[in-house]
Amino acid sequence: MIMDKSEISMLMDENPAYRNIMERTSVRRFTSQPVSELQRSALLHAAMSAPSGVNRQPWEFVVIDRTELLRELAEKLPYAKMAANAPLAIVVCGNRDRFLSGDDATLWEQDLSAASENILLAAHALGLGGVWTCLYPHQDRMDTVSCLLSLPPNLVPFNLIPVGHPLTAATPMDKWHPERVHRNTFGE
Ligand SMILES: Cc1cc2nc3c(=O)[nH]c(=O)nc-3n(C[C@H](O)[C@H](O)[C@H](O)COP(=O)(O)O)c2cc1C
Repeated sequence: MIMDKSEISMLMDENPAYRNIMERTSVRRFTSQPVSELQRSALLHAAMSAPSGVNRQPWEFVVIDRTELLRELAEKLPYAKMAANAPLAIVVCGNRDRFLSGDDATLWEQDLSAASENILLAAHALGLGGVWTCLYPHQDRMDTVSCLLSLPPNLVPFNLIPVGHPLTAATPMDKWHPERVHRNTFGE
C-alpha cells in the first residue's frame, strides 16, 4: 500500500492534478502584479465546488482588493501581516442562516475548510499563491474583521486568505510520516 518516493514522483509526472496537491505551499510574499478578474472568478468557482454537509454550502466570500483595507487588516490582525503586500485577499465566511443544528451544528467548519483548501489549490494551479490565516475561533480577530468589512451579524469570518503572484518559488515541506498510517486497526 505504501509507495516509495520514486513511485510518487512518477505519479506526479503523469498526473498534473496530483502534482498540484503535492507542490502547494503557503505563500506569504507577493509581487505587485494584480490578480486578474478571471483568476479571481476561478478561485471563487473552485471554492464553491467544495463538498459540504447536506450540501448546505454555508459560505460567503468577501474579496478584498482595496489597498488601504488590506493594510488595515494586516495592521490589526497579528498573523496576517502579509496581507499588507498582497494584491488580494479572500475572507471566507460562514452564513449562520445555512448552518445545520444538533450534532451537525459545527459541520460548517469542515465545509469552510474544504472551500478554503480548494482556493489554495486553485491558486497554486493558476500560478498564484496564498496562505490560510486564522480568524475563527479567535473572537478578537473575528470582531476586527467583522467591523472592518461591515459584516452582518449572521456572517462568521472564518479565515482570511491573501492571494497573489509568489515573489519566490518555494519547495514544499516533506510531511510524509508512514508511521501515522494504520491498517485496519490502530498500530498495525
Ligand atoms: C487552520 C489553519 C490556520 C492557519 N493560520 C495561519 C496564520 O494565521 N498565519 C499564517 O501565516 N499561516 C497560517 N496557516 C498556514 C500554516 O502555517 C501552513 O499551512 C503550515 O505551516 C504548513 O505549510 P504549507 O502550507 O506551506 O504546507 C494556517 C493553516 C491552517 C490550516
